[in-house]
Amino acid sequence: MSESYEFPRDFLWGSATSAYQIEGSPLADGAGSNIWQRFSHTPGMIVEGATGDVACDHYRLYKDDVKLMRDLGLKAYRFSVAWARVLPAGKGRVNARGLDFYERLVDCLLENGIEPLLTLYHWDLPAALDDLGGWLNPDIAHWFSDYADTLYRKLDGRVKKWVTLNEPWVVTDGGYLHGVHAPGHRNLFEAPVASHHLLRAHGMAVQAYRADGKHDIGIVVNLEPKYPASDSAQDIAAVQRADAYMNRQYLDPVFLGHYPAEMTEIFGDAWPEWPDEDFALIRQPIDFLGFNYYTRSVTRHDERAWPVKASSVRQDATYSETGWEVFAQGLVDALVWLRDRYGNPPVYITENGSAFYDPPRAEAETLDDPLRVDYLGKHLRALHDAIAQGCDVRGYMVWSLLDNLEWSLGFSRRFGIVHVDFATQKRTPKASARLYSRIVASNGRALAQ
Ligand code: BGC
Repeated sequence: MSESYEFPRDFLWGSATSAYQIEGSPLADGAGSNIWQRFSHTPGMIVEGATGDVACDHYRLYKDDVKLMRDLGLKAYRFSVAWARVLPAGKGRVNARGLDFYERLVDCLLENGIEPLLTLYHWDLPAALDDLGGWLNPDIAHWFSDYADTLYRKLDGRVKKWVTLNEPWVVTDGGYLHGVHAPGHRNLFEAPVASHHLLRAHGMAVQAYRADGKHDIGIVVNLEPKYPASDSAQDIAAVQRADAYMNRQYLDPVFLGHYPAEMTEIFGDAWPEWPDEDFALIRQPIDFLGFNYYTRSVTRHDERAWPVKASSVRQDATYSETGWEVFAQGLVDALVWLRDRYGNPPVYITENGSAFYDPPRAEAETLDDPLRVDYLGKHLRALHDAIAQGCDVRGYMVWSLLDNLEWSLGFSRRFGIVHVDFATQKRTPKASARLYSRIVASNGRALAQ
């Protein structure tokens, strides 16, 4: 008898995107500039000079995209708000036309029976705030919570699931340590400061939500379980450092009120001491955790890998076009780890997906993407397994609804379950979208076929 993959009742099936990756028209209707707009317009920063000027033109085509989701039968949609549309200078004056866009989007989702999950920060910091130091300026916790409050007051009730930050690890590792993401800094001393202010900003925005909001709020992290490449003491210590840096650096403060001990070893003199009251602020109770899962790392000690001294060892396995190993068991292992280490918080898988080659044009009504189909099936079966092991997982958002601007990789990597022809803006569901649609309609049972 084949296994049944039925998911819990009310499991929330959806898809995810983010503002700068899909919207286009970044400066329309009085919006201020943001750091990705600046970064992408700086020669050499993004593959083939791609920018978010048009992207998927979702700012203008959002109604079509909502209809697409409805046709696929999706029940939820995770999107992000571009801070500089709502507050062009990042603080102070509210731009009503920017706020209106998100109000119209939310209303359109609700009219189509799709629950909105709103992310307040998915990396597009207002440029005017970067001019003031961005995430390095301690005042940003106030700027962020004021911005968040503007949205709570406008949309809470219609939006019942709020996310403060998307992947603070990527914000700091990409933006402040290695410089491959906006704002493009490369500074060991800045990265821990930016991390800390991101966490303070999160805490303050949760506090503001308790005053003005009535529903659920959480944070989204990307977790990549680390497995030792050998049983040598050196490799095992490297796993501890890599795990602390990527996985525990944000969750330990949020759930346990302190940073992992390994952080001083990794950052040396660049690791600051912070006052106790900061940890009280950061450790606000949250209603759920958003977990983005893509891959694992088999880790070894590596002196040349700055600053963590740990790197990944390539496996004899399938790798996606972003160079990530396809390893569904990592999703189970990470969820079991969350269950045991942090007291089994309610979790939404807020992103999971893969970039594999698809042609720029879709010639037919649908497009075959067998590797993405395989990835999706494997990860959803793994997710079912984790739920069977008692992990409190409440929903799953596939990354991504649409092919979109993959940050520094421009349009060269496609993660969508729906293909986008960037020359014509034509949307074509891929086989993965059709499979996902059947999975959603059957609440998982289609996974048995
Ligand atoms: C981010 C997305 C990104 C995806 C694939 C996540 O880190 O939140 O914005 O497109 O991974 O790289």
